[in-house]
Amino acid sequence: MQILRFSSANLQFHSFIFAIAIASCFVRVSSSSNETDKSALLAFKAGITEDPFGVLSSWNNTVNLCQWYGVTCSRRHPNKVTVLALYSQKLSGSISPHIGNLSFLRVLWLYNNSFYHEIPPQIGRLYRLRNLSLANNSLTGEIPKNISGCLDLLHVRLSRNKLSGEVPPEIGSMAKLRFLYGSANNLRGSIPSSIGNLSSLEVVSLSKNYLSGSLPRALGQLTKLSALGFLQNRLSGTVPPSLFNLSSLEIFEVGFNQIHGSLPTTIGLGLLNLQYFSIASNQFVGSIPPWIPNNATKLWLLQLLSNKFSGKVPSFESLHNLQRLRIQLNHLGSGGSGDLKFLCSLTNITSLAILSVAGNRFGGLLPRCIGNFSIAIEQLILGGNLFIGEIPREISNLVNLEILTMEYNSLSGAIPIDLGNLQNLTILSLSCNNLSGVIPSSLQKMKRLITLQLLKNQFHGHIPSHLDNCSLMELDLSDNNLSGDIASMST
Ligand SMILES: *[C@@H]1O[C@H](CO)[C@@H](O)[C@H](O)[C@H]1NC(C)=O
Ligand SMILES: *[C@@H]1O[C@H](CO)[C@@H](O)[C@H](O)[C@H]1NC(C)=O
Ligand SMILES: *[C@@H]1O[C@H](CO)[C@@H](O)[C@H](O)[C@H]1NC(C)=O
Ligand SMILES: *[C@@H]1O[C@H](CO)[C@@H](O)[C@H](O)[C@H]1NC(C)=O
Ligand SMILES: *[C@@H]1O[C@H](CO)[C@@H](O)[C@H](O)[C@H]1NC(C)=O
Ligand SMILES: *[C@@H]1O[C@H](CO)[C@@H](O)[C@H](O)[C@H]1NC(C)=O
Ligand SMILES: *[C@@H]1O[C@H](CO)[C@@H](O)[C@H](O)[C@H]1NC(C)=O
Ligand SMILES: *[C@@H]1O[C@H](CO)[C@@H](O)[C@H](O)[C@H]1NC(C)=O
Ligand SMILES: *[C@@H]1O[C@H](CO)[C@@H](O)[C@H](O)[C@H]1NC(C)=O
Ligand SMILES: *[C@@H]1O[C@H](CO)[C@@H](O)[C@H](O)[C@H]1NC(C)=O
Ligand SMILES: *[C@@H]1O[C@H](CO)[C@@H](O)[C@H](O)[C@H]1NC(C)=O
Ligand SMILES: *[C@@H]1O[C@H](CO)[C@@H](O)[C@H](O)[C@H]1NC(C)=O
Repeated sequence: MQILRFSSANLQFHSFIFAIAIASCFVRVSSSSNETDKSALLAFKAGITEDPFGVLSSWNNTVNLCQWYGVTCSRRHPNKVTVLALYSQKLSGSISPHIGNLSFLRVLWLYNNSFYHEIPPQIGRLYRLRNLSLANNSLTGEIPKNISGCLDLLHVRLSRNKLSGEVPPEIGSMAKLRFLYGSANNLRGSIPSSIGNLSSLEVVSLSKNYLSGSLPRALGQLTKLSALGFLQNRLSGTVPPSLFNLSSLEIFEVGFNQIHGSLPTTIGLGLLNLQYFSIASNQFVGSIPPWIPNNATKLWLLQLLSNKFSGKVPSFESLHNLQRLRIQLNHLGSGGSGDLKFLCSLTNITSLAILSVAGNRFGGLLPRCIGNFSIAIEQLILGGNLFIGEIPREISNLVNLEILTMEYNSLSGAIPIDLGNLQNLTILSLSCNNLSGVIPSSLQKMKRLITLQLLKNQFHGHIPSHLDNCSLMELDLSDNNLSGDIASMST
């Protein structure tokens, strides 16, 4: 079995906290009676079909509406609702269109409930709304076009619903928008280029939808953009060069799309603040440009896996914060002895936890410097290359390793006698090499081992008698010259 590990890249957005200035309340001679908000809330309540915690039982005529659960009123304008916060209450039902009558509403938080049906377009009448979160419900239909009437909106969170249709181009008029979250819906169509109008935008996350077309060039105008997330859509085309100019960008995630082209060889002063760069599972070609390690020195995650990158891998020694480097499943390397110089450039990076270079064309001897990798390293994924020679015994220094895989190479010689020092190892795969000698009894010390794959080598001698330790669930020793009996455990 070949184990080529790659994780689905998780978007890990930082949380952003902003002090929002208290809105200047301007007095307005209102012709509407002070019953408007009350009747709008009662209409909202009428749309709710389930309220298992009974939070809406306080919404009754014996209590002033400003004391109703989840309701906050304006100080200056009696009986005018500014905040409606009913999150995480297992509420079920539809959102009443009368919510559009809460003309002083600034915060609408209905996230993490089970609201269904559509987002009422009357939401567009809430022109004072700053904060809208309807995330994690079961809302269907389209994002209403006239949400663009909410000219004060700063935060929009619509993630994890069942919204369909396109991202309305009208969002381009919400000039103050800073955060736009719409991941995990069924949105289709292309990303509207009017997004380039949102000059305050800091985060756009529309991962896990069905968006198609290319990344609009206008994204490069967003000089405050710090996070861009389009993981797992159907985007194609090339990345507009303007995006590599954004020095504000910290998170760049376009993994699992069909984007092609190569990365620019130089980028001037851009991407100096990049911390997270994932373009996994696309169709990028060309080489890994030197600006990645030289200029994007704040990177902690670099995922280029499952593309068609080729050529030599640059040196990474400037990436002092690097934790995860995944370049597996590409066409990197030449099969020759110069291929692995970059590995030694990783030895001073104390944060390195995951390194995967599997499924490439790397050749030559595994350098002994890998024993100088950070003691913190947990995963070393090296399978499916053209490595020759012995497994350096220095690898036994990496005592925090949990996964070590080197299958499908041309490694020879014996398993380092001290490999059993890796007592946190859960997966060890050395299958399909030319390894020989006896299986060191030190492997019995690996009490957490779940998978041990040694098939298709030339091991001889006895199978260590205590390998059948209780955590082991997958053991394959076939196609060797071993003797002994653990037939009952073979998979
Ligand atoms: C408005 O509300 C206040 C306090 O709740 C009440 O005393 C007053 O009669 C109301 N005015 C109108 C016009 O309904
Ligand atoms: C909300 O406002 C609309 C339009 O002004 C009106 O027709 C409707 O009756 C109002 N809803 C409530 C519950 O007062
Ligand atoms: C109205 O709500 C208050 C506060 O939760 C509660 O004490 C009271 O019993 C409720 N009245 C009715 C008639 O439901
Ligand atoms: C979502 O709501 C449920 C039900 O109240 C609660 O148990 C859960 O902790 C909430 N999740 C989050 C992330 O707030
Ligand atoms: C708006 O909501 C976000 C979370 O969605 C929160 O971080 C922010 O502080 C809120 N702003 C206001 C003004 O309530
Ligand atoms: C989303 O809501 C479901 C229940 O509807 C809850 O189990 C889950 O924890 C919520 N997730 C988040 C991230 O809030
Ligand atoms: C949004 O659409 C609804 C229904 O069509 C309408 O009542 C409302 O006035 C519209 N709001 C804006 C700002 O256009
Ligand atoms: C972009 O912004 C300008 C000025 O704020 C506005 O006039 C225009 O309609 C916006 N374009 C789009 C597509 O939203
Ligand atoms: C990058 O930014 C520089 C300086 O602001 C500008 O001159 C250049 O045209 C930009 N390049 C692209 C591709 O947008
Ligand atoms: C890296 O940044 C420097 C400025 O700090 C710039 O001169 C150089 O062109 C950049 N290198 C690449 C490869 O883009
Ligand atoms: C690692 O650090 C040492 C001491 O600072 C230095 O001599 C060596 O050149 C560095 N190695 C790499 C690969 O950066
Ligand atoms: C092994 O794993 C445990 C628990 O995950 C951790 O506490 C420990 O530091 C790890 N390293 C070694 C060398 O035991």
